[in-house]
Amino acid sequence: MINKPRLNEDGITIHTPEEFEGMRKSGALAAEILDMITEHVIPGVTTEVLDQLIHDYMIASGATPATLGYRGYTKSSCISLNHVVCHGIPADKKLKDGDILNIDVTCILDGWFGDTSRMYVCGKLSRKAERLIDITHTALMLGIDQVKPGNTFGDIGAAIQAYVEAQRCSVVRDFCGHGLGRVFHSAPNVVHFGRWGTGPILEEGMFFTIEPMVNLGKPHTKILSDDWTAVTKDKSLSAQFEHSIGVTATGVEIFTNSSMGNFYPTWG
Ligand code: MF3
Ligand code: CO
Ligand code: CO
Repeated sequence: MINKPRLNEDGITIHTPEEFEGMRKSGALAAEILDMITEHVIPGVTTEVLDQLIHDYMIASGATPATLGYRGYTKSSCISLNHVVCHGIPADKKLKDGDILNIDVTCILDGWFGDTSRMYVCGKLSRKAERLIDITHTALMLGIDQVKPGNTFGDIGAAIQAYVEAQRCSVVRDFCGHGLGRVFHSAPNVVHFGRWGTGPILEEGMFFTIEPMVNLGKPHTKILSDDWTAVTKDKSLSAQFEHSIGVTATGVEIFTNSSMGNFYPTWG
């Protein structure tokens, strides 16, 4: 019998237990790539060089960079420095001491999309950057803690928003997580703010990302003239972490954990 993907009443694909294996492999490779790049994040290196290393490692591993050619995007990763919120385009600009950056990779392995990002620190870490990175990582984990059948997508957003705002930081509203699996982006939009008990109900077999972007200042963003790079309007520092996850019968499986325990922190 052919395994057809099943859409629930909210238009969200429900995957079979066998399909978890595809995400495990793809997610593990995406995490391995983020582990691999860590030692290369040093002052003087360009983000273009980091992108090339990511590209070559992915190809050598039998995978394809999902972002390459995606809606006209021409790189294998997004690298977002300091006040860049997301979708920073790798370029010939050199990293300098004190920069913080998010590296976001999505690989396609055997048709499955593994999407993950982490924060990296170049050289010396300031106290305020360290605090922001710590809050953002905790926000992602508190969101993941909400994932189990019967809870709602609103619970994920509410948990993240409540925590972040209690730390006097802000949650970006203009970008969200997303369903994924055999496709890069699918229903639902996984927003990182919201009200408890609202939104679609989580069911076993859903695959999606949670990827909160947190700003030290206001939540507002704007897109630069390259049509991709999103920055904070007030130029405040921004951070992001992303995992691809699946809903299990009893809770959650994280597909993009580092086998080296390197998801956080990724420096020192
Ligand atoms: N990986 C990003 C995400 O988390 C998407 C990047 S799309 C790109 O959804 F075209 F900007 F690379
Ligand atoms: Co994503
Ligand atoms: Co991503």
